[in-house]
Amino acid sequence: MSDSIWHEVADADRVVEEEPIKVQVGDEEIALFNIGGDIFATGNICTHAMASMCDGIQEGHVIECPLHEGKFDIKTGAPLCPPVFEPLPTFEVKVEGGKVFVKV
Ligand code: FES
Repeated sequence: MSDSIWHEVADADRVVEEEPIKVQVGDEEIALFNIGGDIFATGNICTHAMASMCDGIQEGHVIECPLHEGKFDIKTGAPLCPPVFEPLPTFEVKVEGGKVFVKV
């Protein structure tokens, strides 16, 4: 999106592997994930229903929804198994000075 801007959302050391956290940018709920030391951001709301993805189970680059066990690829947002068919939105991430910034 051409009018996206960087938003500081968290201290980088809060984003621990397999313990995703939720942050908020305006109306947008975003989940932050640590995969092997790199941070990724997706929409926090499952595209199947209203579950919070940061309450799901992360295994590597896959997040399993806590409600009906749909799975997404965190890096791309792609749905990996039913009942999820719509991708999660993903957001660019950068880390500067120990802070996480997300482009929204
Ligand atoms: S709400 Fe996520 S799979 Fe149903």
